[in-house]
Order: sequence, then structure tokens, then C-alpha cells
Amino acid sequence: MAGKVVLTGDRPTGSLHLGHLVGSLKSRVELQSSHNQYIMIADVQAFTDYFENTQKIMDSILEVTADYIAAGIDPEMTTIFIQSQIPALTELTVYYMNLVSISRLERNPTVKAEIAQKDLGKSVAVGFLCYPVSQAADITAFKAELVPVGEDQLPMIELSNEIVRKFNRLYNTSCLKESQAYLSKVGRLVGIDGKAKASKSLNNAIFLKDSPTTIKEKVNSMFTDPNHISASDPGKIEGNVVFTYLDAFYTNKEEVASLKVRYAKGGLGDMVLKSLLNEILQQEIKPIREKRESLSKKVLLEICSEGTKKAKSVAQATLAEVKEAMGVFFFDEKF
Ligand code: TRP
Repeated sequence: MAGKVVLTGDRPTGSLHLGHLVGSLKSRVELQSSHNQYIMIADVQAFTDYFENTQKIMDSILEVTADYIAAGIDPEMTTIFIQSQIPALTELTVYYMNLVSISRLERNPTVKAEIAQKDLGKSVAVGFLCYPVSQAADITAFKAELVPVGEDQLPMIELSNEIVRKFNRLYNTSCLKESQAYLSKVGRLVGIDGKAKASKSLNNAIFLKDSPTTIKEKVNSMFTDPNHISASDPGKIEGNVVFTYLDAFYTNKEEVASLKVRYAKGGLGDMVLKSLLNEILQQEIKPIREKRESLSKKVLLEICSEGTKKAKSVAQATLAEVKEAMGVFFFDEKF
């Protein structure tokens, strides 16, 4: 595939939901026809959180792969691969670890927030603190030029570029390439409870594999405006999850604008809006669910295995360049 190298990744901690669809899957589907796109299933990175439950992560790999394909990722155009199956990534991580100080890792705002949120304090594991270094290995192994991510991942790309510059300077080489973040145009989708972003662990997301009944139930339970008691009351748009989802999924923007005006004025009931949103989401998810159901385990395994084989040889080639630059070769023939 011609075009720039694009790399993204997801931690396989469960199947994907509407937040992933608007936040990343749609743009990946667009990017794949004009770029050389890799999508990494970041199981090793997920282990930094789930080392006590590796099975959960392994069980999610094919779930996530199914979601990718169902959402329109084409394995002929995009290379889907599994991080743990590529030893070159681990090797690169170990070499890069010498280029990064502990205090630099402790200053990473995303990691810092995660440590505070999980109340890890000084008991934070070395593996966890180092996951941004491992992410630099992912990015550089493929010489990724564009890394589509959310804002919270910007510090990772910054660190990756620091490692690239330091490595190239130290070993007088240009084998590693800097990358650029490609920020998603859509912000994070809020959960159906309106409290936080949609996520599996908060149980507030609509999944791509949800049944029509589940979708309907979830739409009906969406947070709206608690003071909008009868249809004739004026209602609040801001923080009203139904409108957030209409904004994200309803293509008829004029209609959304006019519904907002009517709702704010009073005279539009929640149930009317919810049934409209339900219809739109059912239409959005139906083809995805159907495609998902048509995918056999055998096909999904084949997709992961083909992609991993291809990714492995690319990462291996970068590792060879890195070792060459460092002067780390000993035997004459290649191992
Ligand atoms: N940290 C990313 C996340 O939590 C996942 C990830 C791992 C990633 N390696 C990557 C993203 C490399 C982009 C590039 O979502």
C-alpha cells in the first residue's frame, strides 16, 4: 500500500463500543485506502494493568478483531497484528530503556493521572511506568509517520520522538524516524449515564455487538435533563446524552438543530427523542452486528496470523538496523 505509514493500537480489554466507532474506527476505515496502516492489538500493554488476569486479555483479542472487521477495517488494506507475538518489540523496548530516566517517566501526565486514579503511589510496577517506552518501540518499529490517537496519548508520542532523537544522535544514525500525532476530530463519546466517557468498566457503553433489544434499553435509560419532567417543560441540551449521541450519529444536522430549539423551548418529550435516537443507532449498528456474526473464529485467526507475520518481519528489520547502529552484532551470519 502506498502512502504514509500509520500505526494505532488498542488494549484488548473487552469488545468495542460506539465510543470507539466515532473516536477511532471510522477514521481508520478512511485512512486505510490511502495509507499503509497497521493496527496493533496491544495485549502486552494491557498486561501492565491486567497481569493477574491474562486470560481476560487473551479472550478479548478475537473480539476486538471481529469488531475491527465488522466496522469496515479491511485486512487486505490494513495489517492487524498482536503485540505479544512480536519479540522484536520487546527487544527494542529493552534497548530504549537506557535512554529514558525514571523521573522522565514519572512526569508523564497520562501515566501520572493513572497512578493517582489507581492509587498506586510508590508501589507502581516497573512495567507500568515503562509502558510509554514500550509504546515508543511499537511506533518506531514500524517507522510510523502518523499515529492517530486521543489527546491523552500525546505525551507518549513526545517521548517516542525524544527517544528517536537521542538514539539517532548517540549512535550517529538516522535509522529511527520521528512520528506525528494525528488527533481525532471527534472528542470522546460520553457514556449513557452522562457521567464519564463511555467505557466497558463503567458499564455505560453501547457495544457494537449489542442486540436490538439491549440497544433500545440502553437508549431508554440515557441520562437527559432531570428537571425536564413533562414534555411541556423547557429542557436542557447541555449534558443531555440523547443530544450528544444525536450530534454524533444523526447525519441530518438541520433536524438536530431544530429539535434542540424545540426541546429548549418546551414541548418536546424525551421519549420522542429517544425513539428517534434508537432508530438511528439501530441502523448504524445493524450492518456491523450482522457482519460480526458472519465471521468465524477460523477467519479471525487467519487475519491475525497473516497480519502478525507481516508485522513481525517489518519490526525485525528495524531491530536489525538498531542493533547494527549500536554495534550489537557478534557472529558473522545472521541469527
Ligand atoms: N496506549 C494506547 C491506548 O491505551 C494503545 C497503544 C499501544 C498505542 N501502543 C500504541 C497507540 C502505539 C498508538 C501507537 O489506547
